[in-house]
Amino acid sequence: MTTSIASEPETAPADKNFLPGPVLLLGAPGVGKGTQAKALMAAYGIPQVSTGDILRANITKGTELGKAAKALVDQGILVSDDLVNQMVADRLKQPDTHRGFILDGFPRTLNQANWLDAQLSTNINTLPVVAISIVVEYEQLLHRITGRRISPAGRIYNIYSNPPKVSGICDVDGSALIQRPDDSEAVFTERMKTFEAQTAPVVEHYRKQGRFEIVDGDRPVEEVTAGIKSALTRLRKASNQ
Ligand code: AP5
Ligand code: MG
Repeated sequence: MTTSIASEPETAPADKNFLPGPVLLLGAPGVGKGTQAKALMAAYGIPQVSTGDILRANITKGTELGKAAKALVDQGILVSDDLVNQMVADRLKQPDTHRGFILDGFPRTLNQANWLDAQLSTNINTLPVVAISIVVEYEQLLHRITGRRISPAGRIYNIYSNPPKVSGICDVDGSALIQRPDDSEAVFTERMKTFEAQTAPVVEHYRKQGRFEIVDGDRPVEEVTAGIKSALTRLRKASNQ
């Protein structure tokens, strides 16, 4: 079992030739799951599957799923396992996941983890899951969360560490940036409680399975990305692909 903290500067492995398979990014609100998933998606050419992004897109569109989820998401309470598992099942059926995918924000209950393990075990062509737990201290998480701004298309900025060129405007499509309703300090506190109670056991579940590494997320974004890529290379070698 590998559980070392990958915090030293590292060289990124050859990207498009690397077969990542299913990758789980685990961690508290604001550790950088979305930021890192987008970097890995660009590096490896595999999709990010973010349950939070899918829920927010449904809330914006006003779908039945969005209507059912809105109050919960806004308060930092988890949406039911059945709803979220079904969303993930539908997304993983799409052909762009065949070389692998990055799950961001899923699984976050033991029920979801057991469901995912069962789903993936039925497909003999799927590589075993590898899990990366990103860690950042509480005060830094709060600073990141309250400073985050996003574009309607889901691009992630931060007024302190990654501001747009023009205040309040997305660099890429010129849309107005918004603050997520759950990014207040009060809701962040609830989300942290939810993480400790319901998602910390999921981290432990994958640590016990092996094919797991902890990565220090309190470094510049590019260094965290390099740390994750090195960890993935080690984990895939260790699990013989
Ligand atoms: P979700 O959207 O998954 O939120 P989360 O887990 O709380 O995580 P965040 O998106 O807040 O943080 P992140 O780790 O992605 O950080 P980011 O890269 O943006 O879930 C929201 C809600 O949806 C849940 O509360 C729940 O209601 C529901 N939900 C979702 N999934 C569910 C599930 N599976 N089951 C049930 N309910 C579910 O970075 C944060 C900020 O920091 C950004 O501003 C970024 O620019 C900045 N930053 C990133 N990296 C760095 C760095 N290295 N240095 C400095 N700043 C950085
Ligand atoms: Mg996110």
